[in-house]
Amino acid sequence: MTTLTQEHQIGTGDPAAAPAVQVTNLVKTYPHPEDGTFNAVDDLSFEVGVGEVLGILGPNGAGKSTTLEIIEGLQAPTSGSTSVLGLDSQTDNAAMKTRIGVQLQASSYFEYLTLEELLNLFGSFYPKSLAAGELLDKVGLLGKRKALVGQLSGGQAQRFSIVAAMVNDPDIVFLDEPTTGLDPQARRNLWDLIRSINEDDGKTVVMTTHYMEEAEELSHRVAIIDAGKIQAIDTPVGLIGSLATDHSVIFSTQMAVAESVFESLPGVTTVGARVNGTHSYQLGTESPKLTVPALFQLASVRRFEVDDLAVHAPTLEDVFLNVTGRRLRD
Ligand SMILES: Nc1ncnc2c1ncn2[C@@H]1O[C@H](COP(=O)(O)OP(=O)(O)OP(=O)(O)O)[C@@H](O)[C@H]1O
Ligand SMILES: [Mg+2]
Repeated sequence: MTTLTQEHQIGTGDPAAAPAVQVTNLVKTYPHPEDGTFNAVDDLSFEVGVGEVLGILGPNGAGKSTTLEIIEGLQAPTSGSTSVLGLDSQTDNAAMKTRIGVQLQASSYFEYLTLEELLNLFGSFYPKSLAAGELLDKVGLLGKRKALVGQLSGGQAQRFSIVAAMVNDPDIVFLDEPTTGLDPQARRNLWDLIRSINEDDGKTVVMTTHYMEEAEELSHRVAIIDAGKIQAIDTPVGLIGSLATDHSVIFSTQMAVAESVFESLPGVTTVGARVNGTHSYQLGTESPKLTVPALFQLASVRRFEVDDLAVHAPTLEDVFLNVTGRRLRD
């Protein structure tokens, strides 16, 4: 996992330099489908530092795309404000747009233009643009420069949509669920691309995702958003450390052991059992270091064997459950 290095830290460096992104008391109100209105974005405030990767993690309808679209100047806020590198998304819209790259959640491209023609067209909208060949080469699509988007695989199309957001050599790239719907290998490929955009090209990245492991893998900090509000924002390690305390100790036995026997083991907070050929147990513990040796001692006294022992550290999934009271995906 990448860690936040000194120059990524917010507030360090030149005090006069504006943050990459600033969101202040942002509210977006939509008509409610049944009655009245509701806040899809409900008083959000956060900053993204220059050089940082911020992952915005949240379930369907959390307000992720709406937030990004307002920052990108594609939608107006109901109240509050957003700026990019000190340029207001609304009032400095034209200047701001030359500094950002935008990958929308659902991209549709002109059907009858090749990849190369599309990049040239997009590039012509900006005062400064990168060569189509160089961009396509970066994502392994140079051989497809004469292809149409409709002729690309899912992973290739996603890589193209990211590179299409880079034609103007932006300082900040916004990616809205860049890996949704991809198989694990294509997803890992895109992770490498996103990492390289940040680490090699030095661009700030703001991305949304439904995937915990993706947020954890790529982000310097993760914002957990639910119902239009930030529920927590910190480094992945910080979130896990502060919000999810319990490890899980998982094992099975040949013979049934009463659950209550495990409750008195040191560190144990919860005991779960499941019979499925063997007897499987899951112990929540504040201290696997205390629980595991005591478990083996207990086994030797009670004459049962502990099989398939595994210890799981808490994950962002546990943090999400902890702060929102529900799982990210049902
Ligand atoms: N133009 C609109 N009019 C009315 N309601 C809208 C509009 N756009 C979005 N919404 C509602 O606002 C809420 C937030 O939507 P948004 O697209 O920002 O969520 P999201 O977090 O990006 O979700 P997903 O993970 O599904 O992409 C949802 O309840 C959505 O139905
Ligand atoms: Mg969305």
